[in-house]
Amino acid sequence: MAFYVKVGNVPPKRHITFYKDDGTSLYREELFSTKGFSGIYSNKYHIYMPTQVEKIGEYPIDHWDDWPDAPLQYYHFFTDEKKTTGDIITSRNAFLKNVNCVISTANVSEDSDIFFRNSFAHELLFVHRGKGKFLSEYGTLPFEQWDYIVVPKGTTYQMKFEDYNDVKLFIIESSTPFDIPRHFRNEYGQLTEDAPYYERDFKVPQFTDPIDELGSFELNLKVRDRHFRYILPHHPFDVVGWDGFLYPYTFNLQEYAPKVGKIHLPPPVHLMFTTQHFVVCNFVPRLFDFHPQSIPAPYYHSNVDSDEVLYYVHGDFMSRKGVKEGSITLHPMGIPHGPQPGKTEASIGVKETDEYAVMIDTFQPLRVTKNVKETMVENYSQSWLAE
Ligand SMILES: [Fe+2]
Repeated sequence: MAFYVKVGNVPPKRHITFYKDDGTSLYREELFSTKGFSGIYSNKYHIYMPTQVEKIGEYPIDHWDDWPDAPLQYYHFFTDEKKTTGDIITSRNAFLKNVNCVISTANVSEDSDIFFRNSFAHELLFVHRGKGKFLSEYGTLPFEQWDYIVVPKGTTYQMKFEDYNDVKLFIIESSTPFDIPRHFRNEYGQLTEDAPYYERDFKVPQFTDPIDELGSFELNLKVRDRHFRYILPHHPFDVVGWDGFLYPYTFNLQEYAPKVGKIHLPPPVHLMFTTQHFVVCNFVPRLFDFHPQSIPAPYYHSNVDSDEVLYYVHGDFMSRKGVKEGSITLHPMGIPHGPQPGKTEASIGVKETDEYAVMIDTFQPLRVTKNVKETMVENYSQSWLAE
């Protein structure tokens, strides 16, 4: 994140003695850093050594979701038709993948006492439906509908929902961090006056007392497609304080302040996060272009270096027929895409839109999984013929 946070008790300087109340035993400092020792980082102070583990096993993989002979074509599929039950790990269904990113949804239906740590990927959890608390060694982070929860790689966490009747997460895993775009920050890292959001829009973990508890604590540690089962001898949320720039935080989609133009502006104007291998953009309610002859719907375009993924959250999407909440469209690189028949004409003269959607543009091709095959609209690729 772009700003410094200090929570709980930390010593006056880093890397010095920090004694517990008994005056003789030390709290254990853990530097949690990115890009080796060169990126953003935090220092956490544990009651117990964070390296302690009693047993290591592996959870069996119960399915493979590859669809190796999937054709290169346009895809539209309904993620809500792939409803599974389970906790925040077992309910996940991957739809799109490449080496840099995995795009999944999860209809979380049950609570779990198991802790989770994604050791190889940063996570962006978009809470489409649901409300609750994200618990981690950093403290408590309340979340609600349409919050993004940004989870740094290696964070140990649990999610507790207020109820499990209708929870839906849209999840993006990334091999590199979710960053605030460089051009939204000034030379000191502060968000600029013309950025589409402000520091106050980002919510950081609230301090919670450390949990000093010995016992047997199960951790599900994800490494790409494999899940390891670690048994820890102490509660992982044993942090008495931390400070730094690296921590989970939330941002609500409705806080995004969109920009509008006289004629159609391209998607980079809707930018939310960058990573090294893809970007995330927000489409939110906004006034349309104000040139007297403007066409609000996008022109046909070929982004030859990007696969474009749109996850539809809410509202009437102006350029696409038949989409509904939970739809995903994939328009891959190598073929042009644009509005469906009638949508360009229908957009002329329209003053505003109430659409909410999340867009991901990847710089490497995505592979579609069998979950796409099971939920896709047949003949979506031919839907431009019906003029
Ligand atoms: Fe596009």
